[in-house]
Amino acid sequence: MIDALVFRRVRAIDPHAGLDAVVDVVVERGRITRVGRDAAHNVPESDRVRVFNGEGLWLLPGLIDLHAHVREPGYESKEDVTSALRAAAAGGFVDICAMPNTQPINDSKTITEFLVAKARAAGGTRLHPIGAITVGQEGERLTEMADLRDAGAVGLSDDGRCVTSSAVMRSALEYASMFDLPIIQHAEDHALTEGAQMHEGWVSTKLGLRGWPRVAEDVIVARDLMLAEYTNARYHLAHASTEGSVRLLHEAKSRGIRATAEVTPHHLLLTHENVLGYETACKVNPPLREAHDVDALRKALADGTIDCIATDHAPHGLLDKDCEFDRASPGMIGLEICLPLMMGLVNDGAFSLSRLIDSLTRAPARIVGLPPPEIRETAEANLILYDPQAEWTIEAAALRSKGKNTPFLGRAVRGRVLATIVTGRVIFEAEEQHAGSR
Ligand code: DOR
Repeated sequence: MIDALVFRRVRAIDPHAGLDAVVDVVVERGRITRVGRDAAHNVPESDRVRVFNGEGLWLLPGLIDLHAHVREPGYESKEDVTSALRAAAAGGFVDICAMPNTQPINDSKTITEFLVAKARAAGGTRLHPIGAITVGQEGERLTEMADLRDAGAVGLSDDGRCVTSSAVMRSALEYASMFDLPIIQHAEDHALTEGAQMHEGWVSTKLGLRGWPRVAEDVIVARDLMLAEYTNARYHLAHASTEGSVRLLHEAKSRGIRATAEVTPHHLLLTHENVLGYETACKVNPPLREAHDVDALRKALADGTIDCIATDHAPHGLLDKDCEFDRASPGMIGLEICLPLMMGLVNDGAFSLSRLIDSLTRAPARIVGLPPPEIRETAEANLILYDPQAEWTIEAAALRSKGKNTPFLGRAVRGRVLATIVTGRVIFEAEEQHAGSR
């Protein structure tokens, strides 16, 4: 039984607390009790005190993912609650939100309660269900939002499908605001994307694949922002992928519309050219766009027009991807590789380290109303120990997710989560760290 965790001489970084210093951090009974130079000097040595030598390492607030597909119930061969939470912990996530496009769809209190109970029993990263906006995600009848919220849902989305009807969207925004739940939209005008396989552009023409034009996202975002303004409700755009969405969000925010947005690591890193060669690993919805979209998304994350990064972790089986492009399932995994990939963009100067940390901690917490992980005395200890120098290669065999579907396999990255701590408990530990600590 461990009573205390001690991180000695670690670089603790929490932009919100104005903290970036080499300090000792002491965790006792689930909370951070001391932060400061030599703060650990009078902690007695004991079998019940776990000491981490933090030299050269960083201590960061634990990460929050607004957008993960855990696939349970119904698609447990792709992922289940247990495997998703293990992947999340290995990626440094202390909270993840689970999208409802399962089988059956999470449009009910029963499924929401099931997910909450199963995740609690697993006892690691915490899981927060997102309930469906409409029954069966069919876009017609609203779900029992109060029931979903009471059972533990922190937001509502028909992700994977767009709420196409303006009337349904209007009612959804009005009802959800009574329960202070954000409406999370998958913005895709399905009439414009029927049969689409990838972004509409020169690559789709060359490959002979039907294209998904940017405007199919932009028209929905424009309409939704008008509805959000009209209803004064909270609207969150899932996986923004276009320059047009950025422009619309910027304008809406400047006029005080209560809109927020997320962007995925893959939309910040890849373009439609990565699909050349019929790369099914790069088939994703919304599709990978063009360099100027990527540039706009990076700038929007940097200046806060886009609030946060969300993984859209979408595990699929081998045969879902090892097939003809038009039969392949869209999606990529992301939980275990998000942080090092995004640190790469910080190192390239795309956005600052403090903006990155905010976009994976405080910003998503605010959107779904979770307490933000912080590094300050008395805060609940939800932390990650991170080695900024560790170099490793992303390999399928080492991934805890059942899904191995990522185009980043084989990519060399720098930076590794060594340990993840939830309410003072070490829920994940990389093997090297285990060997190096006492
Ligand atoms: O690529 C995607 N995959 N986009 C979605 O919206 C859904 C997700 C999935 O569930 O696989």
